[in-house]
Amino acid sequence: MPMSADFKDRLTLRIEEIVAYFGTPFHIYDEKGILETCQALKKAFAGARFFQEFYAVKALPNPSVLALIRQAGFGFDCSSAAELMLSREVGARGEDIMFTSNNTTLEEFQLAAADGGCLLNLDDVTLIPKVPQMPDLICFRYNPGPRRGGNAIIGKPEEAKYGVSHEQLVGAYRAARERGARRFGLHTMLVSNELQADYMVETARMLLQEVERISVELGIVFEFINIGGGLGIPYRPEEAPLDLVGMGFQITALLAAFEEQHGYQPRLFLESGRYVTGPHGVLVTTVINEKNIYRRYVGVDACMSALMRPGMYGAYHHIAVVGKPQGKSERVVDVVGSLCENNDKFAIQRPLPDIVPGDLLLIQDTGAHGHSMGFNYNGKLRPKELLLRSGGAVELIRRAETPADYFATLAFEPRVLQPAAG
Ligand SMILES: Cc1ncc(COP(=O)(O)O)c(C=O)c1O
Repeated sequence: MPMSADFKDRLTLRIEEIVAYFGTPFHIYDEKGILETCQALKKAFAGARFFQEFYAVKALPNPSVLALIRQAGFGFDCSSAAELMLSREVGARGEDIMFTSNNTTLEEFQLAAADGGCLLNLDDVTLIPKVPQMPDLICFRYNPGPRRGGNAIIGKPEEAKYGVSHEQLVGAYRAARERGARRFGLHTMLVSNELQADYMVETARMLLQEVERISVELGIVFEFINIGGGLGIPYRPEEAPLDLVGMGFQITALLAAFEEQHGYQPRLFLESGRYVTGPHGVLVTTVINEKNIYRRYVGVDACMSALMRPGMYGAYHHIAVVGKPQGKSERVVDVVGSLCENNDKFAIQRPLPDIVPGDLLLIQDTGAHGHSMGFNYNGKLRPKELLLRSGGAVELIRRAETPADYFATLAFEPRVLQPAAG
């Protein structure tokens, strides 16, 4: 589902008061919606013998939100040292954390193994001898290449840098076993923002087939399959939501059929980010300027530092104007930030209610890959993050960046390497 009408109603009712207290721009997340989506995921996969979601930390790496997700009983998918630290900060340990890095460094492996370790998911066969200590339980990320089609954001599997190829897969498990691994899992991550439930069902089917193939070749049993993230949300009002219930039903049926044939069922893991938090975040920004040249531009006080997706992927984010319903005296505009890049646009040639400086815009569905993707080009700073608690309190959960944050890396002990004498 996109931003729910319920969240929109609760937010709109309080928006003037929140803006007066905190100032714009900010992302605001909805505790109620996030917790409800966590429950919906659990329910959809209740038919599996064991289901676990590992929330993709990169989507919204804020400890207050991660703590909520942890409360719901979910683990975390991490791809960097900082994400591992954040997951541990909110209490996750050992098999609550799946570490899926790529082009991994020795330091990352060391951190992954520290403090109770984690589920290690290797991205390549060359990493097998590099893991400082092969854990008991090991997983590989599978890239099926031309066996599967991809989608717009990630592209075709055979063109993606991720994973172990079909031809390498059996050898990877054999080599890991030779280094001491005794327990095994299989992972893949092929799509992003996929709204077709069937694609994910086929991914589960593919992994179960691979589990069968590798098990026969090596005589090993798989403890889990991880079908990755990539569950889509309808960013555009006219898009149909993913059929989560149907998807859960079909995947659990595949697992049951596998059990009938093989006498056991691997645990089912998912590492969704966007589906869990995406619809439950909004970027609230104030219109500060208007400009009419060959097009009409509406300038707001947020820019790409707060939300990269439109500029980076041409992604659509629905925009509502507070107090001005859609459909009334609309004008076609580009909604722009202040970066010296022409793709710093939240909307391009979008019909919106007549907007004037001082209006508040709600840029919707920013709860995943929003604030976390922001960057500091042009010295532009990232905005604050707020959390709308179920009881109605609004909490500051990250302050806005300041120029001092931007300049912090310029404060250091001077070091100079002089050219060798002679
Ligand atoms: C390895 C991995 N897992 C999970 C995710 C989460 O994807 P999504 O937020 O689309 O579910 C990503 C996203 O980049 C990823 O790279």
